[in-house]
Amino acid sequence: MGVRVTNGRALLAAVMGLGVAVSAQAGEYPDIGPLPALKVDAAKAELGKRLFFDKRLSGDAGIACSTCHVPENGFGSKEALSPGYPGNGNFRNAQSVINTAYKKVWLHDGRIGTDLNDVTREMITEDYIMNMDMRIMQERLKQDPVYVEMFKAAGKNEPSNGGARSIIPEYLKSLTSRNAPFDSGKMSASAKSGMALFKGKAGCIQCHNGPLLSDQKPHNTGVPENFDVFLDPMNHQAFIAFAMFQGIPNYMNLKRDPGYLNITLDPKDMGKFITPSLRELKYTAPYMHNGTIKMLAEVVEFYNQGGGKDSNKSPLLKPLQLSKAEKKDLVAFLEALSGDQLTSDQYVWKGEYPAEYPAIDNWTQVRN
Ligand code: HEC
Ligand code: HEC
Repeated sequence: MGVRVTNGRALLAAVMGLGVAVSAQAGEYPDIGPLPALKVDAAKAELGKRLFFDKRLSGDAGIACSTCHVPENGFGSKEALSPGYPGNGNFRNAQSVINTAYKKVWLHDGRIGTDLNDVTREMITEDYIMNMDMRIMQERLKQDPVYVEMFKAAGKNEPSNGGARSIIPEYLKSLTSRNAPFDSGKMSASAKSGMALFKGKAGCIQCHNGPLLSDQKPHNTGVPENFDVFLDPMNHQAFIAFAMFQGIPNYMNLKRDPGYLNITLDPKDMGKFITPSLRELKYTAPYMHNGTIKMLAEVVEFYNQGGGKDSNKSPLLKPLQLSKAEKKDLVAFLEALSGDQLTSDQYVWKGEYPAEYPAIDNWTQVRN
């Protein structure tokens, strides 16, 4: 093309507007590279960790954040569709929360663009997720003497719902990639070739760029629907509750996840999802917003064929004609973006939660 555009967004707009595809040129996109280190407050992160693994944060005290964001699965869920609050299903894959502290937009459809405090509130209060009333949560926390001490150590007066919502994100800040070969410069020759393809011939960098390998913008890649959402009444019930709340037109008859359309209600955004980070993929199978692709080799084949079938599919995707060896190299590169598993005591609360507390006299008079 004769026009030189340095801004990725402007380029994207130009390409979409003209309906022509350009081959990716790495220099035009924010470079992929190591994530900057985050400063974490140790006392707050320790308290956030205890909260993340505590089932008492859900309405019936049956599930914790860690029920769906499982440490061994890269803090995501290995089921294609996430578990739901007991008695509910779910309609999306539970994302990894590793590196989530670096994001500016959260959830598969990007419906939260403020901060992790708001994402945490959504997770706790949403009826198909933890179905918890924050006022009850606060009273439960105040009854546990360990929390009373830990909130003090974290510089808070007493356990409160606002305190819990601000402190869980501090723990999430401690969940970041460690020692990925990509970051430590120890990639195999095959992974290095894969990286060149990623930035060049395969064009992945058009959307997967910057240190997170995500532009954090919505695109339609034509991922097929997961019909378990609509065929399983438990999942469908969660989907309907969600779609009704979001004001999605015709939600009772809808048999697809509208994605970014949730936010704009604009038909041109149907089936767009926020580009995910590509870090820690080794642990987070299955892939995509609905877990329909099981292996990285299948993801690469999906892109090799130009993505899925959708009338609204991004013009940036087209068949890639990758050789067998090139596909292997791309997979090796994707694998090199995963670091150490975050399953040690540093990241996982392995202590007990007391089942009984001493009775508190004159409850209404008490301040912790
Ligand atoms: C019942 C399962 C479940 C539980 C429990 C749960 N989550 Fe989630 N979480 C999900 C699902 C599903 C998504 C994706 C939702 C979507 O895109 O609509 C998600 C997404 C997230 C995200 C967004 C990640 C990103 O990078 O965009 C964060 C952060 C998160 N959860 C944190 C938490 C925290 C903190 C808790 C506990 C307070 C929690 N979750 C409890 C299922 C769960
Ligand atoms: C047009 C933008 C775009 C391009 C180009 C693109 N991707 Fe994606 N990628 C996405 C979006 C959007 C998703 C999420 C789709 C969904 O959840 O339905 C995604 C999902 C993925 C996932 C699944 C991640 C997860 O955690 O579920 C992998 C792996 C992936 N892409 C790798 C690649 C590779 C390799 C290439 C190049 C061959 C590539 N992508 C090219 C936008 C793009």
